[in-house]
Amino acid sequence: MREDLKGSNLLKLSDLNPDQLDELLDRAVQVKSAIAQDRLTPTLSGKHIGIIMQKPSLRTRVSFEVACGKLGAQPIILEGDANAFSRGESIHDTVSTLSRYLDALVIRTYDDEFLAQVAEHATIPVINALTDGYHPCQGLADLLTIREHFGKLEGLVLAYLGDGSNNMAHTYLEAGALAGMDVRIAAPLGYHPDPSVLANAESIAADTGATITVMSDPDQAVKDAQIVITDTWASMGKEDEHDRRLAILEPFQVNAELMAHAADDAIFMHCLPAHRGEEVTDEVIDSSASQVFDEAENRLHVQAALLQAVLGT
Ligand code: CP
Ligand code: NVA
Repeated sequence: MREDLKGSNLLKLSDLNPDQLDELLDRAVQVKSAIAQDRLTPTLSGKHIGIIMQKPSLRTRVSFEVACGKLGAQPIILEGDANAFSRGESIHDTVSTLSRYLDALVIRTYDDEFLAQVAEHATIPVINALTDGYHPCQGLADLLTIREHFGKLEGLVLAYLGDGSNNMAHTYLEAGALAGMDVRIAAPLGYHPDPSVLANAESIAADTGATITVMSDPDQAVKDAQIVITDTWASMGKEDEHDRRLAILEPFQVNAELMAHAADDAIFMHCLPAHRGEEVTDEVIDSSASQVFDEAENRLHVQAALLQAVLGT
């Protein structure tokens, strides 16, 4: 059953049911077309959207700011010295205060438990702009990109290679489970998904008909896959593990040899920023199969649709 998203948080994709996900992607298609024709109605005029960035960002920050601008809303950026949480004020006091000024809060942070507490104390919608555990806005953009390319989501084979324990791997597990896809995660032992995230995705998959497989063989994962995805081997906050991870994850690099095992019409995806020569070669990311800038563009459209939906416009 479809339920209105007005007033809802989006902390992870599995906060949505499959119908809500579908509806949000449909709304994003409409937003994208309206933007292309320069006829997007500024339905968020007079609204103020807080954007808290506790980690660096290019795409997320700019796409949210542009989405606000196109919808007539005012973004309020809190980062660095202006970071809402930099003076030791309690989460309750900070978020209760922000809720009196703002209409929605977009936050990029580390710990998912911290984000959950922010959402608990907020009386406005809270949107996860990336945590250690999830990146739902990127997941929405990627699903839109895949749907645009193949005209459907259900039944497609999505292979994610690399750090299977990071926010993007977790997000693809949820995205694929909700959308009825065949999701394969290939990662070295020690870098497999969090068992509770995997169990949640499997329980969603049991209802949608999706299949989920976690493995350690990159060739097996990409065999006949329509979508081959990777992400950085050392996510934000793990930079000091970079050299160790490079050695362990090297067999999972997406290169032309690996792509040759995928389906003939396979596409390559990466949320960016990419580390060329590490998780992906120039040859693959610059190939005609690569959709990375469509993904980046679609961040704008899905986030505009999301802001409209949670603000009930
Ligand atoms: N993909 C993504 O979230 O990019 P940024 O870290 O630049 O925001
Ligand atoms: N897994 C990456 C995604 C960046 C958008 C990170 O968290 O750094």
